[in-house]
Amino acid sequence: MSYKKVYNSWKNDPEAFWMTAADAIDWVTKPSKALFADNAPLYEWFSDSEVNTCYNAVDRHVLNGRGDQKAIIYDSPMTDTKYSITFSELLEKVAVLAGALKNKGISKGDRVIIYMPMIPEGIISMLACARIGAIHSVVFGGFAANELAVRIDDAKPKAILAASCGLEPNRIVEYKPLIDQAIELASHKPQTVVIFQRAECKAELLDGRDHDWNVFQENAEKAPCVPVKGSHPAYILYTSGTTGAPKGVVRPTAGHLVALNWTMKNFYNVDPGEVFWAASDIGWIVGHSYICYAPLIHGNTTLVFEGKPVGTPDAGTFWRVISEHKVSNFFTAPTAFRAIKRMDPKGELKKKYDLSNLRALFLAGERADPDTVNWAENLLQIPIIDHWWQTETGYVIAGNPLGIEKLPIKVGSPTVPMPGFVIKVLDRSGSELPAGQLGSIAIKLPLPPGTLPTLWNAQDRFESSYLNTFPGYYETGDAGIIDDDGYIYIMARTDDVINVAGHRLSTGAIEEVLANHPDVAECAVIGVSDNLKGQLPVGFLCLTAGVDRDHMIIGTECVEMVRKQIGPVAAFKNALVVDRLPKTRSGKILRGTMVKIANNEEFKLPATIDDPVILQEIRNALFKIGYAK
Ligand code: COA
Ligand code: AMP
Repeated sequence: MSYKKVYNSWKNDPEAFWMTAADAIDWVTKPSKALFADNAPLYEWFSDSEVNTCYNAVDRHVLNGRGDQKAIIYDSPMTDTKYSITFSELLEKVAVLAGALKNKGISKGDRVIIYMPMIPEGIISMLACARIGAIHSVVFGGFAANELAVRIDDAKPKAILAASCGLEPNRIVEYKPLIDQAIELASHKPQTVVIFQRAECKAELLDGRDHDWNVFQENAEKAPCVPVKGSHPAYILYTSGTTGAPKGVVRPTAGHLVALNWTMKNFYNVDPGEVFWAASDIGWIVGHSYICYAPLIHGNTTLVFEGKPVGTPDAGTFWRVISEHKVSNFFTAPTAFRAIKRMDPKGELKKKYDLSNLRALFLAGERADPDTVNWAENLLQIPIIDHWWQTETGYVIAGNPLGIEKLPIKVGSPTVPMPGFVIKVLDRSGSELPAGQLGSIAIKLPLPPGTLPTLWNAQDRFESSYLNTFPGYYETGDAGIIDDDGYIYIMARTDDVINVAGHRLSTGAIEEVLANHPDVAECAVIGVSDNLKGQLPVGFLCLTAGVDRDHMIIGTECVEMVRKQIGPVAAFKNALVVDRLPKTRSGKILRGTMVKIANNEEFKLPATIDDPVILQEIRNALFKIGYAK
């Protein structure tokens, strides 16, 4: 079948298309129809079905003869550990943990926060929640206590499942002090904290509230799968918006199962039984969808990798893992490849390994720059597939569907819309722009199954963030163009979100932290281009009148505040003191102009600028830290 045929078959009859895709899922009660549009523009899919995610990801494979197949391969160059877990073993582990959670009174609809590094217990925790209908919210280990506290207060979890520590190449990140601090900061107090004690660091447990992972599960009876409604939230995943308050993206159970399963063959072109590796982290959407759920739902082996593309121990780690575990499809962020290319430009380390099982490399999370794509293609001699998606959609919006038809690749474009998505480029008034013109990228409603139906506790914010700007469309927050062949190019964000090493960060959230420094009167944060991480945040500080402390010291204090309050993952290293910020006469800070100065791009002096001389000061400050050359 051709891509065009499949796309048109969806477009002509979306209901039939998704009901057919739904046949691959084991239902407790089959859905009577796919789309529920009574509340348009708020849509639901398969809402009258009953189903369980864990059953589809684990139990059914054991029942269907895959019990001895590896479900999870764990490979940790950080601890020099490798082992695998079969589907039968996974079922046992998940059912027991689910039983222990049940014993603590956790049941359908209760929230559980998971704060885990890249170890199989993270996935076991996610699946145990799914088994009893509890709604998990995984928090990335690189976030600080304050970010964890914000999520605790929003999700109001009954329990936290965590490990004693995460491991970074240069340090052990102790999780327990961060959890204690977060619970202290939060108004909501979870009753139960379960800690998986790692050999690298033992956490002190608080009597009554905290439990050792193993002791917690002793004598627990295995819990059966609890059927939930199709529209039941499978999880909440917080992502950056324009303010310090993260958005809790809600994932509906049934649509998630149907859509993720569909992508495995049709998009990634893998068959059940093969090894699929997404080198991300379970704290991000790629980890939710393609380390945990999709491969397991589809009967694949997934790989949990605890390490970095470089330095653990070298830039050949990815090749070792692919060759050793016979990975057939590999997914990562372009930044990881830029890191490898920097350390091993000629790809010498790859020569040691047999990568004959690897059929394709998938890149997402940020723009796949042509240099990186071309380098990867020369090195690997396999299709390098860029694909565009967001936490909100949970899976690919535009890409090259290898399982349907490999379309010609245009480097710099994630190719074409997938079934389910009608993508338009709109001008500010919402009118469609002709091919080749840059505008806001919007997706025609309804979004397909599995995409976010709302934000947790924030229906109004959902509507104002995504639905109100262009009635009838979902606003993606990305800007780009569509060319004459219908290929999509994602060029930039239209909001204050920046992309640092494939991680989504809000400049507004960093500004909120800086504004709390006692000497800072005003501030602005921009994302400047970076050869490795894509973008890096840089802060500008205007000090309160009369402050005469050393500017370097104030800058260092601000950097430390961001690290403490948001986390090391923000990679915030530069806070520059300037006299004033460039503004329009109406007082709007000209962040876009500052970005262009930093990146040495041409820009038009905004007609409404208050005082153009300030731009020279901004340029000088940036020059001193290696930008605006
Ligand atoms: N827990 C605690 N700290 C973490 C962390 C975690 N899970 N992950 C990252 N950090 C810390 C790092 O230790 C680093 O701290 P430092 O300032 O003390 O050095 C900081 O956060 C920034 O980390 P990172 O972005 O990983 O930068 P790096 O310079 O250590 O490594 C890359 C650069 C490109 C190798 C790395 O960013 C990478 O592997 N990127 C791939 C990204 C990815 O998979 N994204 C998923 C989206 S698909
Ligand atoms: P996240 O929700 O963290 O996955 O971030 C989603 C954002 O990352 C998108 O809105 C884009 O801005 C960016 N992004 C993701 N994939 C791509 C891609 N293939 N090309 C360009 N930008 C991308």
